[in-house]
Amino acid sequence: MNPAASALDLIRKQLHLSGTKEGCREGDCGTCTVLLGELNGDVIKYKTINSCLLPVAALNGKHLVTIEGLNNSTLTPIQKVMVDEGASQCGFCTPGFIISLTGSLMNKNINHKEMMESIDGNICRCTGYASIKRSIEILEMNLFNKIDLENNSLKTLVENNFLPEYFLEIPARLKELNYKEIRIYSSGENFIAAGCTDLFLQKENQLIEKGIELISSNKTQKIWEDRNFIYIKANTTVNEIRNSSILQKYFPEIKNHFELFGSYQIRNRATLGGNIINASPIGDMTIFFLALKSILQFKSDSSTREVNLKRFYKGYKQIDKMPNEILDLVKFPIPPKESYINFDKVSRRTYLDIASVNTAIYLVKENKHLKSVSISAGGVSPYPLLLESTSNYLTGKEITIQTINEAFEFTKKEISPISDVRGSEEYKRLLLRQLIFAHFLKLFPEQIAMEEII
Ligand SMILES: Cc1cc2nc3c(=O)[nH]c(=O)nc-3n(C[C@H](O)[C@H](O)[C@H](O)COP(=O)(O)OP(=O)(O)OC[C@H]3O[C@@H](n4cnc5c(N)ncnc54)[C@H](O)[C@@H]3O)c2cc1C
Ligand code: FES
Ligand code: FES
Repeated sequence: MNPAASALDLIRKQLHLSGTKEGCREGDCGTCTVLLGELNGDVIKYKTINSCLLPVAALNGKHLVTIEGLNNSTLTPIQKVMVDEGASQCGFCTPGFIISLTGSLMNKNINHKEMMESIDGNICRCTGYASIKRSIEILEMNLFNKIDLENNSLKTLVENNFLPEYFLEIPARLKELNYKEIRIYSSGENFIAAGCTDLFLQKENQLIEKGIELISSNKTQKIWEDRNFIYIKANTTVNEIRNSSILQKYFPEIKNHFELFGSYQIRNRATLGGNIINASPIGDMTIFFLALKSILQFKSDSSTREVNLKRFYKGYKQIDKMPNEILDLVKFPIPPKESYINFDKVSRRTYLDIASVNTAIYLVKENKHLKSVSISAGGVSPYPLLLESTSNYLTGKEITIQTINEAFEFTKKEISPISDVRGSEEYKRLLLRQLIFAHFLKLFPEQIAMEEII
């Protein structure tokens, strides 16, 4: 099979395993969800992934689990509760839900919020969600405090019939394969592919013709810090960023900031590098790291080069990158103690939608004054924009409604939103104004009086 073909086609057309369904083929419905297990040392970690956006090449050295792979002699507790509670009518979405919920139990310290989050990429169009939610609540009542989910291991899940016994042999079998991922440098001829959540949507047919070069998942440390900078490897996924203890130390809200990025399955695959390089004007991670004054480090087989993220975009989808360069890492200065950050995004629907407008603010405060300010905004220009004039105006000023209003006079001149399906030009201008106020309201509620804004 062509390594650039989707795992969904391998599963359904070649292996004739029809339990995994094909719905949207765009990462939106979750009916194609599979588990992908990857060995790190002796420990295997499973992630739920949309197989429609997963290239066959990414299966190398890993354990692919479809719904058939969960079959036991009796229904698993998740399957049983969904049957008992009538949580499946036509059944089209059901394999995806079962896989997502099984995957959630494979994470340590699972709680109710995380269990619900694990199915935010699964859509049901006929049963409705009440019985699915009820199944989860019953499952939790039967599980929490009864089996050791804190130290949950494959063994616990096998003993409690959530997984078939063969799962226990998988780490040894993968070890035997001794598959080593290699770091590639691009020839510039094939498509460089990371999580493929964008590539498969935009260029699936071209991928098959031209071929892909997969950026290795690089199991060594992906996020680290030294005295001056925090470094993030380009192939770090959204969920790895949200769960990073280093990033949580500096940005306690980071998990919430990216909670509405795609779906759980998308967050398991979408990388920081892909978000920056695809140059979408509304890339959520790009907007966040733009405000942090990030620097991009590119590598080719012969050189290393650094580019300031704020200078990287030259026009709509035009970037300062040679075809043979790979984005290796993103770094930004360690935020000082008195710094604050906020990120916000407004989209037409809450879940699984890209932003109409998104924005981040990063500032350092001294008493009531703003020592430095950096505001970025997406959806208001052909590329992710650092609002430099607005930020410069605010720097050194006291935080008041008046200064924010005055700053917005600069914002108006910096942005150039267009009317499209995500909103009219006027709407996006208004949205950004309100979101900038919302940054300050959220960060300094005691200094900003709500009634004065309206
Ligand atoms: C259902 C769905 C929901 C989504 N929701 C959101 C959302 O809420 N917010 C959001 O911002 N985005 C969203 N996206 C878009 C997408 O998931 C993100 O932009 C993601 O970060 C892309 O990363 P990737 O690793 O999948 O990139 P890929 O698809 O692998 O690559 C994207 C581009 O970047 C290039 N590339 C990737 N990595 C490198 C590298 N290291 N060096 C050089 N070139 C590289 C590729 O060649 C390609 O041109 C969504 C996508 C889908 C399908
Ligand atoms: S088929 Fe809909 S998410 Fe894959
Ligand atoms: S049971 Fe029919 S779509 Fe969910």
